[in-house]
Amino acid sequence: MQKYLTCLLGWVDERFPLTSNIKTHLTEYYAPKNFNFWYFFGSLALMVLVMQILTGIFLTMNYKPDADLAFASVEYIMRDVSWGRLIRYMHSTGASMFFVVVYMHMFRGLLYGSYRTPRELIWLFGVGIFLALMGEAFFGYLLPWGQMSYWGAQVIINLFTSIPFVGPDISLWLRGDYTVSDATLNRFFAFHVIALPLVLLGLVAAHIIALHEVGSNNPDGIEIKEKKDKKTGIPLDGIPFHPYYTVKDLVGVSVFLIVFSAIIFFAPEMGGYFLEANNFIPADPFKTPPHIAPVWYFTPYYSILRAVPPMMNSQFPGVVAMGLSVVLFAFLPWLDRSPVKSIRYRGSLYKRFLAAFVVSFIVLGYLGTEPSNVWGQFGSGVPIVGGLDRATVVARIFGLIYFAFFILMPWYTKIDKTKPVPERLTA
Ligand code: HEM
Repeated sequence: MQKYLTCLLGWVDERFPLTSNIKTHLTEYYAPKNFNFWYFFGSLALMVLVMQILTGIFLTMNYKPDADLAFASVEYIMRDVSWGRLIRYMHSTGASMFFVVVYMHMFRGLLYGSYRTPRELIWLFGVGIFLALMGEAFFGYLLPWGQMSYWGAQVIINLFTSIPFVGPDISLWLRGDYTVSDATLNRFFAFHVIALPLVLLGLVAAHIIALHEVGSNNPDGIEIKEKKDKKTGIPLDGIPFHPYYTVKDLVGVSVFLIVFSAIIFFAPEMGGYFLEANNFIPADPFKTPPHIAPVWYFTPYYSILRAVPPMMNSQFPGVVAMGLSVVLFAFLPWLDRSPVKSIRYRGSLYKRFLAAFVVSFIVLGYLGTEPSNVWGQFGSGVPIVGGLDRATVVARIFGLIYFAFFILMPWYTKIDKTKPVPERLTA
């Protein structure tokens, strides 16, 4: 048997670089030996991506991209299609978990300076993935054709109208109509099921090719390729990705699947954070829901949009601030001036700024899920802020902290008191 398999492999290898690719990317890809739990999220993101594509294929078999049929087809999937309920919940919960995993993955980058030289391109491909993922989630959210799908799309597309000169044309072009309609649903379906998944897959491939070109960073932020065994040329602090990390990643996958199943089986709507109650009502173009809010993963940016005051009756400044709050991530490799990469060897300034950034992200995220008058108004007698919603003032303060993390980075990373970095990985 062994003989036949070796023969078959030889036959394949003469025609396709199978063994050499397995070696380059798995058995002879030397990863730093000190990966911790933060390194689970890359492989988890990969797994969720595959799961979204697979469950998406099965949903598409019964979903109807037609304004008259879409809502009912989703109900049909939920009630009548065999396993339809499970597949729909896997996909809707999968969308939220994708963002949980990607946010943790990005945060790991901030902890260990994984965006720094020579990994700028890995990071830039990552930011591209993040943007594409946001588009994918936005387009997908219209498909169930519920009240929130409809009005959410209406609000976001209308934002483009505020862009000077070309705005109204861009909105019309995106919608394909003067209001969100069947034409909009059809094009969003096309973007969601084919265009953006292709972009995502291409970007993920580029992300991993770039990673395997330069090698992984690690919790110490030390380049393991600088200390190699003189005879074999293997990094002294490296271990083969397979079997060591394939096995270790299985632990992450198992824990993730336990949490994921618990959500799907016991709280698929997650108290309205993953699936909103308003979206179980069919879209009605004549009835605006009392409170329109995006899904939780968009709310930090939505909060920033709302916090910026309009100028000359135009929301354009808010739209710019919202766009910047996402795009600024792309500039991190050039904003960070610290001589060290990992938080382990950074000084207290970076740690404080990073902590403030995380708090601001969470506060803005929470505020974005609530109406802007959630905490009532300041009394009209209060100077400066008289008559303003309290939550808007809090969103403005935390919005400033959010931007300060990026804009002040060249300054605080340069003057921060860093610790000496060891030559080899620590335990
Ligand atoms: C579909 C989404 C994504 C997938 C499937 C993905 C996949 C991966 C994988 C498998 C790794 C190697 C394992 C690891 O280091 O955890 C990795 C590393 C990395 N990813 Fe992603 N990623 C995604 C999104 C992102 C995003 C949005 C960013 C940042 C904006 C990003 C930045 C990075 C960086 C900097 C590394 C190198 C980390 C290091 O070596 O310390 N990724 N990614």
